Amino acid sequence: MNDRIREISLNTIEHSTGSLTVVEEEIDVPFQFKRAYFLHHLDPSGVRGSHAHKNLSQLMIAVAGSFTVALERAGRKSTFTLSSPARGLLIPPMTWRTLKNFSSDSVCLVLASDTYFESDYIRDYSEFLRLGSEMHDL
Ligand code: TYD
Repeated sequence: MNDRIREISLNTIEHSTGSLTVVEEEIDVPFQFKRAYFLHHLDPSGVRGSHAHKNLSQLMIAVAGSFTVALERAGRKSTFTLSSPARGLLIPPMTWRTLKNFSSDSVCLVLASDTYFESDYIRDYSEFLRLGSEMHDL
């Protein structure tokens, strides 16, 4: 995938009876997705994430409610508030993410480029910094 954190607009068809939002791989998302999962019944005072992935690319969508996503990649930090089901946040590999400030109704949908492998996770922040600096030295 194009290795850049960015927010994208998703094709949304408005109707008087409701809205429909579409995500198509290789059109909206610059990778093919093999897995979808969603976080729900979230604790408003809880923190999720606190990890990075070695190879996984993801698209994250607040399909209901809102929450904040703090990202760190290649030494740069950014924070996004996701609050629209018609917007998605593209998260490339080697990005440390922390999700919090969940509204009580929030649901976070994630489309991921691969199936679940615990070996793809970096859960130790100092290891994330070390691996990241090794990559940038190449
Ligand atoms: P994790 O990715 O750490 O959740 P979060 O980033 O929301 O805090 O996953 C939480 C637990 O769920 C962990 O034990 C791994 C497991 N899990 C799966 O079994 N399959 C999956 O597809 C995902 C995303 C997580």
